[in-house]
Amino acid sequence: MASWKYLPVLLIWTWMVGIFDVASACTNCLKKNDTLTCIDEAGGTEYQLNLQSEGTILELSCVSHMKPLNVSFISDCDFPDVEEIEITGCSLPGVSYGDVILHLGIFPENVTTFRVRNGINQDDLEKWHLDGMDNLMILEMHNNKLKILPEEFFVPTTNLRFLKMSFNSFTTLPASLFTFTPFIETINLESNEVEVFPDAFFVNLTNLREINLSNNYLSDLSSHLFIDSSAIESLDLSDNRISRMDEDVFQDMGSLKNLTLLGNLLTALPEGVFSNLISLRHLDLSSNLIKYIPANSFDKTVNLKTLSLRNNSLNVLPDKIFIQCRSLQTLILSDNNLKTIKSEMFPIPETSLSYLDLGKNNLSFARNKFNILVAHDSPLDDFPLSRQIELKVVILNDNKIEFIPSVFNRVFLKLKNIDLSGNQIEYFDYHSLRFFEESVTLNLKNNKIKIIDFHDRVPPIKDKEVILFLEGNELVCDCRLYAFSKIVQGKPVGLAEGPPNIVVKDIDNVHCRDQDDNLEHLNELDLTTLTCTVRRCIGNCTCLHRPHDWMLIVNCDHLGLTHIPNLVDLPSNISVTLNLQNNSISSLQDLKSPRSSQVVNLTVSDNRLSFINETDIPNTLKILDVRGNNLTSLTEPLLKILNETDMILSLGNNPWPCDCGSIDFLNFLHVPSRKVTDFEDIKCADGEELLLDLNEYSLCPFFMQPMVIVSLVAIAVFLLLFAVLGTVSFYKYKQGIKVWLFAHRFCLWAITEDEMDANKKYDAFISYSHKDEEFVNTVLVPKLESEDPKYRICLHYRDWIPGEYIQNQILQSVEASRRTIVILSSNFIESVWGQLEFKAAHSQALQDKTNRIIVIVYGEIPPESELDEKLQLYISMKTYIKWGDAKFWEKLRYAMPHPPHLKKGHRRRRDTDKLELVKSDSKGGA
Ligand SMILES: *[C@@H]1O[C@H](CO)[C@@H](O)[C@H](O)[C@H]1NC(C)=O
Ligand SMILES: *[C@@H]1O[C@H](CO)[C@@H](O)[C@H](O)[C@H]1NC(C)=O
Ligand SMILES: *[C@@H]1O[C@H](CO)[C@@H](O)[C@H](O)[C@H]1NC(C)=O
Ligand SMILES: *[C@@H]1O[C@H](CO)[C@@H](O)[C@H](O)[C@H]1NC(C)=O
Ligand SMILES: *[C@@H]1O[C@H](CO)[C@@H](O)[C@H](O)[C@H]1NC(C)=O
Ligand SMILES: *[C@@H]1O[C@H](CO)[C@@H](O)[C@H](O)[C@H]1NC(C)=O
Ligand SMILES: *[C@@H]1O[C@H](CO)[C@@H](O)[C@H](O)[C@H]1NC(C)=O
Repeated sequence: MASWKYLPVLLIWTWMVGIFDVASACTNCLKKNDTLTCIDEAGGTEYQLNLQSEGTILELSCVSHMKPLNVSFISDCDFPDVEEIEITGCSLPGVSYGDVILHLGIFPENVTTFRVRNGINQDDLEKWHLDGMDNLMILEMHNNKLKILPEEFFVPTTNLRFLKMSFNSFTTLPASLFTFTPFIETINLESNEVEVFPDAFFVNLTNLREINLSNNYLSDLSSHLFIDSSAIESLDLSDNRISRMDEDVFQDMGSLKNLTLLGNLLTALPEGVFSNLISLRHLDLSSNLIKYIPANSFDKTVNLKTLSLRNNSLNVLPDKIFIQCRSLQTLILSDNNLKTIKSEMFPIPETSLSYLDLGKNNLSFARNKFNILVAHDSPLDDFPLSRQIELKVVILNDNKIEFIPSVFNRVFLKLKNIDLSGNQIEYFDYHSLRFFEESVTLNLKNNKIKIIDFHDRVPPIKDKEVILFLEGNELVCDCRLYAFSKIVQGKPVGLAEGPPNIVVKDIDNVHCRDQDDNLEHLNELDLTTLTCTVRRCIGNCTCLHRPHDWMLIVNCDHLGLTHIPNLVDLPSNISVTLNLQNNSISSLQDLKSPRSSQVVNLTVSDNRLSFINETDIPNTLKILDVRGNNLTSLTEPLLKILNETDMILSLGNNPWPCDCGSIDFLNFLHVPSRKVTDFEDIKCADGEELLLDLNEYSLCPFFMQPMVIVSLVAIAVFLLLFAVLGTVSFYKYKQGIKVWLFAHRFCLWAITEDEMDANKKYDAFISYSHKDEEFVNTVLVPKLESEDPKYRICLHYRDWIPGEYIQNQILQSVEASRRTIVILSSNFIESVWGQLEFKAAHSQALQDKTNRIIVIVYGEIPPESELDEKLQLYISMKTYIKWGDAKFWEKLRYAMPHPPHLKKGHRRRRDTDKLELVKSDSKGGA
């Protein structure tokens, strides 16, 4: 005995623990912390005593003992306030519990609650074990491996209210067990091995409210078991082996509120088995094998609030099965084989049901009549739940549902939680995320969702939150995922009211599959790459739509095109990327079509371009790729445009000549901010040298070098001299040159009339019949020679050299005169025109178109038709003046050469003295 050593410590503890301290007077016990440890050194057992709740509860635990509970070595304890005792881990005592308690200084008659838990090596309870505990109200003997319960066990405890003898090994129980406990309220015989409970086991227990017989071996519920049990409110028969029950087994239980038949082997419900359970609130029939439920099974259970038929074998439910359950709030039908549900099955009025679990069935809902998979178009009436407007939770996981029913968004005002995981949904759009409640959870895990189509417009969900689960779907990384991904990634979606509050709870596990079959995390998805194929495209090209920059990507590569395809069919409000790589296009001229002005990115690499006309470049173009063509130069205007638009260029693999002609191009490339993607591919045609490595001098070796400058200056001086001399000689020999030019019909534009006529001796040669001599000599010549402007006139009588051959005379006269005036009269036609020589000479002169002829009709002449051909030609000449015409002189002077001063503003000196008047004496000469 060494306890005295600890006495001072114990005393300090005593002082510290205070008023409800274990009376340290217990001998053979030692106080550790607030626990008394009592060791029976002889028996080798150790007990611990623990007081709680101000001394009203005593816990006695057996630390190490194999023998019956025996506290006789402890004495002198005094616990007068203890009302509740809990004995843990001990075996049964050889005396009554009343004696044990008494030995610990407790008044047994004060004890109302007695618990014996986790006992070891228990055998049979004896009928005297509760002796002395007359006031016991709560008795719990839980988990003690007890096998036998004697018939008179409760005889001492007539006040018992609560009995719990769970987790023991009772196989049978005496029929009159509860005869001595008339006030009992709760009986828990859970987890024993009872196969049959005695008939009328609970008879005359008018206070009995709750019975728990779960987890026994009960297989047959006979109608006698619950005879006269009208007070019972809760009956738990779960986890037995009940496969059969009498149809009137519950007939006396009008007060029953809670009935649990979970986990039995029922395959069918007897007809009307619940028909007297008018108070029933909660019925659990889950985890049976129920295949058949009579149609009116629940017709009388009108107060039922919760019904579970989870995990049965139901293929169908009778029509109207729950229709009378007007209080039904929670209905669990999950884990069956239901293929269809009908709206008439559910309670009327439809204002009660708020929780419905239809998970793990075979349900699918009819699509709309067009069989179009557009969730928000499915007609409401077709949907069996559409009248259950109070639904808050709808669980439809693991069915065969192919779309999100639109009633969720349009009818269920209070919906907060939807589980559609494990279905076959392939698509949903933003309509499916519009709910009435502030925060709604939608579980779409493990479906086959490929597309989440938010278009580009985003729903005005405003302040409402939608919590999504999306793991395990088959999302496709394409343009249809663009808007949704953008929201999910928290990027601005360009809405005034802010993005809808969509939270994907399992975002870290949500992937989409891209074209290359790679999985990409949705929250890390590069939105700029999302595209979709556009079905209608141009020719054999393929079109992609890219929502990120509202781009249409037209791919026409490797199609053998020789022309740029016509873009007319494209929508007009979209930017275009045109890829014409690897074709045989030699000109960009078709880019002039109006639609081309939408092209922002043009790839014409590996084609046959050898020249780019700057007018072909659409002014919207930002990116131009002309690699691998035949380009040898870019014209100055083109370079100017490329410079101004600051275009991104790819120019490599063209045969750029590295010569003086490429200096502009080189300078263009040298601009530091130039956006050329492939400087390293811009090489000289004749080698591997990079154009950018060259400078002006190496590009054009003689340019600007001193020798060259000298030579250039010399050449320039020479050229200048040459030019001056040339000009001088030109002026000197101008006429000759011009005449030569004129004669050979070259450069006619260079020769003016004045210049041609500059050296002519006469202003006019007058050809007339000598019979009209008087008119010529007295009227015409004096007037022309004397009045201003004065003309020099050649008359063939006067000015001709005598003896010359007449034909030559005429030709010379015509040639020496600026004009030839013919006085056309009947005399002229008769005498002059008749002379062959004259006619020939005139005709010849006429052919010279530069010799302008003025015809003056003098007197009456025969009608034009009677004149001969040549003469008609004469008359048809434009200058045709009739003598006697009121404006005769004006017209004549107009037809005459205009004196230079009238044109040039200065008077040319006229040397009238030079007039050569040659009098001709040739008779009848022309
Ligand atoms: C009791 O005291 C010991 C030390 O004396 C300590 O190790 C132990 O944790 C305490 N136990 C409790 C339950 O306070
Ligand atoms: C316990 O019983 C004894 C004797 O009957 C009595 O004196 C005492 O007051 C009781 N204690 C309590 C707390 O009721
Ligand atoms: C139940 O009580 C009635 C009257 O109180 C009595 O006649 C009957 O014998 C009792 N039944 C049992 C089994 O004790
Ligand atoms: C009905 O009884 C079972 C078993 O006793 C219990 O688990 C359940 O909570 C009870 N239900 C209600 C609503 O009281
Ligand atoms: C498209 O390709 C097919 C087969 O290669 C060819 O026969 C057809 O002419 C092409 N159409 C156009 C519009 O180029
Ligand atoms: C321009 O178009 C080509 C081919 O279509 C593409 O490879 C390139 O990435 C585009 N450039 C830009 C900046 O979008
Ligand atoms: C470029 O195109 C314009 C308009 O089609 C045309 O007038 C011009 O002659 C072309 N320039 C060259 C050098 O071909």
